[in-house]
Amino acid sequence: MSKDVKDYINIIGNRLGKAFSIDSFGIEEELDFWALSAEHMSRKKNPAFQNIITWMDLLYQAPVHFVYKLEKDHLILIKRQLISENLLSDKGSKMKKSELESQRTQFIQDFENQMQNLEKKRQWDEDFKEHGVSAHTIGNCEHIPLYKKNGEFWGIYVVGPNIKSPENMVPKFSIISRLLSSWLIKLEEQEKKSQKQYQEKIQGLVGELGSGALNTKGISELLLLYLINVLKAESGAVIEYAEGKPVIIASNKLKESHLKSLMGLNDDPMYVLEGDNFKLTESGNKIQKGLDLEPLFLPYIKDDISGFIWINRLEENEVKDKHPVLGDISEVVAKLFEFRNNNEIFSNDLVNAFYKMLRAIEGNREKTKFHTPRMIAFTEMFGMIFGLDAKEMNTLKLTAKLHDIGYVGAAGISSMASIGSELAHPVAGSMMLSNLPIHEDVINGIKTHHEWVNGKGTPNGMLGEDIPWTGKIIAVYEYVVDFFESNSNVPPEKEEEMMERLKSNIIERADVQFDLVLIPTVIQQLTMLGWSGCAQLGVDQAD
Ligand SMILES: [Fe+2]
Ligand SMILES: [Fe+2]
Repeated sequence: MSKDVKDYINIIGNRLGKAFSIDSFGIEEELDFWALSAEHMSRKKNPAFQNIITWMDLLYQAPVHFVYKLEKDHLILIKRQLISENLLSDKGSKMKKSELESQRTQFIQDFENQMQNLEKKRQWDEDFKEHGVSAHTIGNCEHIPLYKKNGEFWGIYVVGPNIKSPENMVPKFSIISRLLSSWLIKLEEQEKKSQKQYQEKIQGLVGELGSGALNTKGISELLLLYLINVLKAESGAVIEYAEGKPVIIASNKLKESHLKSLMGLNDDPMYVLEGDNFKLTESGNKIQKGLDLEPLFLPYIKDDISGFIWINRLEENEVKDKHPVLGDISEVVAKLFEFRNNNEIFSNDLVNAFYKMLRAIEGNREKTKFHTPRMIAFTEMFGMIFGLDAKEMNTLKLTAKLHDIGYVGAAGISSMASIGSELAHPVAGSMMLSNLPIHEDVINGIKTHHEWVNGKGTPNGMLGEDIPWTGKIIAVYEYVVDFFESNSNVPPEKEEEMMERLKSNIIERADVQFDLVLIPTVIQQLTMLGWSGCAQLGVDQAD
């Protein structure tokens, strides 16, 4: 955890120390506390995290409560709650109510920003097994160790900062710890179960969308290899003429000179398309004269699709060379390319329909109203400053457009934005698109846009080197855009300060959450735009 955050929390702790006096935890308070525990115990249903916090708050009146769970040799932050009423106290203040209110809002906003900096994973330390203040928890918080029924250590409940357990309660902490453990462990199990059920539901909804995937290259290769082997040929290729230019779709054992000639890399291409026919060019003729046998040339021309199969034979075989299957093969290649083109058109239509569905979901909340248009505009500008080429730019823009598309799949389960969809949307989104002819960098970018480069992100805890470039760029802007969405009412005199905070948050997260390589460009962009420029980016282009 950064030193700043610790300092910050300590400052708040000192203020709180003055505001509340835990010594006032007397018999009456203690009775209230035990009465509430008895109430929870008498119920069949396990208390929710909020109920547990409210109960613990009777003891501490502290602003931050969180739970770490031990997994292997690390403590993982699994729950976090900020009680903003405990963050500031009106006691003794001479300020006007309105002043106090605005100061409180700012203070809470500051604190919430800082809370984001909490470490999600921390090193395990034997000291955690004891109840008490721990300097290596956060700031100066109390922690209560939690145990499973069999006595195995499970995790810690952390509360604070700078608040001490009431003296008269210390001897009773083993009871408190037992209650806390049983409730929190059960709660975690329930949540895990419902999360698993949610993932299964998502899988059921979007896992079997049918396959429009077509391996054009693979099928072409198969047909070509069949021809080469049956005709005992030396080499061959499947060529498509896209916008009049030859493109190699598949090739086998092609000599470099033949490849160059077919592609027209040195000279004219071997063939040119004239009307409904392919014509051998002069340079093509020269190449062919150098061959022992005239190559087998199987053209396919169909509406807007044209190309040919070219086979360099070693021996002539009248029967085989005239076999009707050769005509069928060139026909099927034409149909293959036609299918691929139609598939692309359909896929674009489907993706655009998904996008409109996503925008409708985003429009339901004031905060997210411009989310994806903002993401597109930010990443496009990033691409220009960073110097991406046209192809990379298209890939990035499409990733930005579709990065949260998984919410569309999640909406089929519940109209409420749930923790489940929050966690599942990268996977759901990539699954929804996995069978469409969309570049893998787009699909993998969607899948990884909530991963952290240090391996502490979701959903798979992938390390930086395994996260594709698209996922890394979207991750930074998911953070940037969220910052503007969460701070939409910044008064003009505060804009500069907020911008500085955003920049330092990003720099702090370099090599932790974000790829270091991207940071200078992101900072440059933010500086160029300024606060209001950023807040407005993408809003006007929103559809
Ligand atoms: Fe997202
Ligand atoms: Fe997003």
